Amino acid sequence: MVVPILDRLEGKKLPVTRCSIAKARGNRWYYESFHSSFYRLGACPDHDSWRGLGPGADARAGGRRRHCHDREVFVRTSQPTSVRLLYSTDPNLGNPTPSPTFQTTMRRDLTKIIPLNGLASETTYYMNVVVNDVAQFAAPPYPSFKTFPLSGTSRTFNFVVLTDFFNTYELTQNLQTFASAAATSPVFAFIGGDFDHRNPQTSTDKRQMFKDLYNVATPHMEDFVNLILRKTPIMHQWDDHDSGLNNLDKTYPYWNVNQQVFQEYVPSYPLPSVTPAGIWQKFSYAQADCFVLDCRSQRDVATDPDDANKSMLDGNNLGATGELQWLENGLLTSTARWKIIFTSVITNPSTKENDAWGAYQTEWNALRDFINTNNIQGVVSIAGDLHLGAIDNGTQSGFPEISVAKPNSEQPPPPVTQCASARVGIWSEGYYNDTCSGFGLVTILENPDRLILQVADEFGAIKISYTVLHP
Ligand SMILES: [Fe+2]
Repeated sequence: MVVPILDRLEGKKLPVTRCSIAKARGNRWYYESFHSSFYRLGACPDHDSWRGLGPGADARAGGRRRHCHDREVFVRTSQPTSVRLLYSTDPNLGNPTPSPTFQTTMRRDLTKIIPLNGLASETTYYMNVVVNDVAQFAAPPYPSFKTFPLSGTSRTFNFVVLTDFFNTYELTQNLQTFASAAATSPVFAFIGGDFDHRNPQTSTDKRQMFKDLYNVATPHMEDFVNLILRKTPIMHQWDDHDSGLNNLDKTYPYWNVNQQVFQEYVPSYPLPSVTPAGIWQKFSYAQADCFVLDCRSQRDVATDPDDANKSMLDGNNLGATGELQWLENGLLTSTARWKIIFTSVITNPSTKENDAWGAYQTEWNALRDFINTNNIQGVVSIAGDLHLGAIDNGTQSGFPEISVAKPNSEQPPPPVTQCASARVGIWSEGYYNDTCSGFGLVTILENPDRLILQVADEFGAIKISYTVLHP
């Protein structure tokens, strides 16, 4: 049953699902298990600047060493109730540390993102979820995550990219993609836009999309929940089809609703304080700074003339508080070896020129010139939206780029005639079109510093590989 209530924050009527009264079991209320859990990435630099600490102050504060690997764990209960975590470095959860106890409420759709502080770096933690004083996992294996290295360090590591999910309610088959991605032992999983493609219109629909994606009981999504969400830190950006409509832009009237649902369901770094909402964020892992773009909420209409007045990142003319200056300042001041730009739409202008960066070439060329003029090295783009595994060495847009395929395409079996959502375009290293499901694998190595972009199919077989050497 859906009951509209006045949302005081937004001043809009947001439908909120009314709770049924919990079923009684003797003297106890009975609650379902939490729906899912996952983990935001380590957050030292952003969190510390957010708290007013300067760069470099993150590892030490007040004269004594401080751990700074904050995590956030997403939990959803089936009824309004209390929830807390127990966590430990022991796989059997011996001598666990309790988190504070929180209440889930209908106002936030029974979700709670629980912060964990004081964690050690590069350490695996195991967790149990306690709902209304009842532990939800009876025995190992417990959900787990591994914290990040201290900032400013250098490591050899890899992460995976999953983007443009098929609508969960239309899935008909299990695919190996999630298991194959998990088998690479990624330090995090980046979940791109179009988390699925259902074009959710109302806050109820938008919330339901996340519920379906996070629910271990959703047919054919079990591996995603068990092998990715419950074991791997994630970061997520939205695109058009998970935000509301095809080719969405700043004129969409419900960005604030999108952000509210995003904040309920997606652990994130501190989000920009702008109206309408935006979700651009930066995080770091060892020698990589990662810039997560919001390519939708700020963009001018794609059919506008492509001139200096047209922007994908600052169509609202926010200037110093906007996304374009945030990106330029972040790139300019980054001391990381690698600057990875997660862009939900491809930078390659040889296709999707009606909607992707090809439709915003004036702004992209200015950004490229800014990067080159300032001799900013190690810039790489990771994109979705095209539904095609492909790699370009930088010939097309100025910087190396990987386009990542859907993880769970429902295209007919080979020979496939069309995986891409538009024409395939021109990619120096080629594209993989024999089958349509797969993921992106990014490996960063040292001595010499290099970054490997790889297109993997459903089974983890590498179909295209390109190595970027740091100059
Ligand atoms: Fe898509």
